[in-house]
Amino acid sequence: MPHILVTDRAGTEAEVAAKPGHSVMEIIRDGGFDELLALCGGSCSCATCHVYVDPEWFDKVGPANLDEDDLLDSSDHRVATSRLSCQINFTPALDGLKVRIAPED
Ligand code: FES
Repeated sequence: MPHILVTDRAGTEAEVAAKPGHSVMEIIRDGGFDELLALCGGSCSCATCHVYVDPEWFDKVGPANLDEDDLLDSSDHRVATSRLSCQINFTPALDGLKVRIAPED
């Protein structure tokens, strides 16, 4: 079963089942992580789905798109591997992806 590994703000890691075609935000939320607010529902306008992609996975995930990049700039907690999880489409190539939920802005 494809999955991703999610670390919450308390530092606890959990494996979450992942369906291709869903965004990583949907996968995290459906996995029961209510601290990922995803307030805009995935339309790239809130930045409350901010995650840190594990550096070993960042090349596979790729950089933020332009709108996402602008939104990430509004975060006090942006790092080099920041992404908005609603903008990462899960594919089989991302099976095993590791992300950490970023601190709340
Ligand atoms: S859910 Fe709002 S930007 Fe991702």
